[in-house]
Amino acid sequence: MRLILVGPPGAGKGTQAARLIDTYGISHISTGDMLRAAVKAGTELGKQADAFMKDGALVPDSLVIAMVLERIQQDDCAKGFMLDGFPRTTPQAEALDQALSEAKIELDAVVLIEVADELIEERIIHRRQDPETGAIYHLKFNPPADEAVLARLVQRKDDTPEACAKRLAKYHSETAPVVPFYSGKGLLKRVDGLGAPDEVEARIKAALS
Ligand code: AP5
Ligand code: MG
Repeated sequence: MRLILVGPPGAGKGTQAARLIDTYGISHISTGDMLRAAVKAGTELGKQADAFMKDGALVPDSLVIAMVLERIQQDDCAKGFMLDGFPRTTPQAEALDQALSEAKIELDAVVLIEVADELIEERIIHRRQDPETGAIYHLKFNPPADEAVLARLVQRKDDTPEACAKRLAKYHSETAPVVPFYSGKGLLKRVDGLGAPDEVEARIKAALS
């Protein structure tokens, strides 16, 4: 299975990806996670990406496209993959399309998780992540049961109200145009992202079956 997850910041892409990769036995490729790892490791890519990310801007296409095309050629992707947060511009979608057609690989579906703009900020500013396991929590909607986990949670640098507003604006101007690109190919599945994560997961699985 080769899938793409699209949706505004805080739509639940990472939350759902963590659940779905086990079901389908595929690799999770989150460009946000890859870029954050590069920033943390202080690589050349991370140094270039850091300022864009902190500010809620997109990292330049040339950097992200090269990173993803290299990643999807790795052995673990032969069994399938779930792209989370890529493509997020039309040039990224076109570059992926060309690379996949050259490799004679077809996408199975593009899942759009829809969440209204006015619900995004609350999801973003109360999000926390476990640095040890990578698990995503929400202080109100999905807090960890274990006090020790709660104590070690960290907040992303771009999860401020200011960066969130910029990310949402970028989503509408740069990323929303990839939706008609994929619906034109007959690949788009629209899924309502409201409700508990279990309900959203069930909707995605139903859309893919
Ligand atoms: P990235 O990491 O991809 O961030 P994003 O797209 O803004 O999305 P998020 O990770 O914020 O949200 P999500 O949809 O994964 O939601 P989550 O599951 O965490 O990108 C970060 C930055 O990297 C970009 O701004 C850019 O700078 C750069 N970048 C990355 N990819 C790039 C690309 N391709 N090109 C250029 N630049 C790129 O959930 C959010 C919260 O809501 C959590 O607290 C969660 O617990 C909670 N939640 C989840 N589901 C529900 C639910 N159903 N009900 C209630 N709460 C829920
Ligand atoms: Mg995410």
